[in-house]
Parts: sequence; structure tokens; C-alpha cells
Amino acid sequence: MARRRRIYEGKAKVLFEGPEPGTLVQYFKDDATAFNNSKHGIISGKGVLNNRISEYLMLRLAEIGVPTHFVRRLNMREQLVREVEIIPIEVVIRNIAAGSLCKRFKIEEGTTLPRSIVEYYYKSDELGDPLVSEEHITAFGWATTQDIDDMLALGLRINDFLTGLFLGVGLRLVDFKLEFGRLYENEEVRVVVADEISPDNCRLWDAKTNEKMDKDRFRNDLGNVKEAYQEVARRLGVLSEADIDLKTPRVVN
Ligand code: TMP
Repeated sequence: MARRRRIYEGKAKVLFEGPEPGTLVQYFKDDATAFNNSKHGIISGKGVLNNRISEYLMLRLAEIGVPTHFVRRLNMREQLVREVEIIPIEVVIRNIAAGSLCKRFKIEEGTTLPRSIVEYYYKSDELGDPLVSEEHITAFGWATTQDIDDMLALGLRINDFLTGLFLGVGLRLVDFKLEFGRLYENEEVRVVVADEISPDNCRLWDAKTNEKMDKDRFRNDLGNVKEAYQEVARRLGVLSEADIDLKTPRVVN
């Protein structure tokens, strides 16, 4: 494959210059990090699975009119996306208490929240992604009031849709993180979903047993991490091709 210009390398993905202006190639790595990079590991095959899962979910969202950066999957580990200006805010939506919410407010894990809770975190590895309010976001110029309105409306719609989609395959959407970007086209700008949606940034519990099927298995050393991601992919009906490739080691560039 021809050498491509690397635009950005994150903890789980690499962005390369795309084939046409305004596009990027998003490459999914097997690297996993937790607790702001203090824990690092490799989950063999995770990149292949997340590429598939995120493709599937982004396509389902596009079908209901939620704009995303996704264009098409290119191969086992790469997808073509629209180039967007990333808004440096992580939008977390919670339906059931877990993770940092339990720690912060001493709530028992698994408690159903009286309503979905939306939180904003400022994307900064240096600061450890601090929780911020709308006041911080607008005062420091990270996003406008209009951006926040768009992220909130899209986030809640995505939450309702994905909650139903996952429940249909026996999974509870406990919480998840979204990233958004500004897409500039024809002198207009709109806020679209960016990054990825996968078990790396969603908490998914089996609806019957409450077994964790997401990155918490890595964060908390629960074992069978890849198997859990594979099961999520299988239930969504996107496993077949990815599964064959996971069993056959080969060079992926
Ligand atoms: P938290 O309970 O640790 O705040 O995480 C809430 C949700 O956001 C959970 O589904 C995991 C996801 N998340 C990320 O995708 N990236 C992060 O850096 C963090 C802290 C959480």
C-alpha cells in the first residue's frame, strides 16, 4: 500500500490522509488503554471488531437521519470518513449507574437512573478529561451554545435509538461516549457524529445476566475481552467475515 500521510495518532486509532480532499482514513488498532493511558494492553483482533461494529452502528444512525462522519468501510481495519473539526468535548450519556458516576456520587452500580443523564468532559489527556459544565465550554470557547444544543439533541436521539437496537439483541446500553465534529460543506457547517461507537466507548451488559460485554472487562481485568467484543459483533450480525479473519493470522498494514 502506498505511503500515506499520518494526520493524527490516538490511543486506539490512527487517522491518515484520505484519497480525496475532505476525507480521512480511520485505522483501528488493537491497543487498549484505560484510566487516562495509565493501563495499556493489546486485545488481538479488537480493531477488526470495532471497525465492523462502528460501521454497522453509524450506518443504522444514518438511516434515521443522524449525520455522521462515516462514508464506507475500506477493509478489515480501515474506514473512509469525512474530515471534520473535532469538538474537544466528550459527551457521555448514562441510563444505568456505572463507572465514574458510582464513584462520584456513591451510587450502587446497576441502579437505573430516573432519567438519562448527559455529561460533558473536556478532551485533554494532560488534564485527565475533566467533567465540565456548559459554562466552561462556552466561556473557554471549546464549543458554542448552538454546538451544545446540537450535540445534546443528537445525543439523546442516538441514546433512544441505540437503547432499542441493543435491547433487540439482548444487550443493555448502560452508558456511552460520543464525539462530534463540525463538517464544513457548501459554505455551511453542521455538527455530525465522529470517532467510533463500539464496546470501547459503550458499556453493554447482557440483558438477562448483566454480564459485562465491553471495555470494563479490560479495565477491571475480568478476562475474555476479545470474546465479549466478538459476542457483541455476533449479536449485531456483523461477525461472519471478521471472525474468519481473526482466526487466520496475516499481515495487516
Ligand atoms: P466513566 O463511567 O468512566 O465516566 O465512562 C462513561 C462512559 O464513557 C463509558 O461507556 C466509557 C466511556 N468512556 C470513553 O469512551 N472514554 C473515556 O476516556 C472515558 C473515561 C469513558
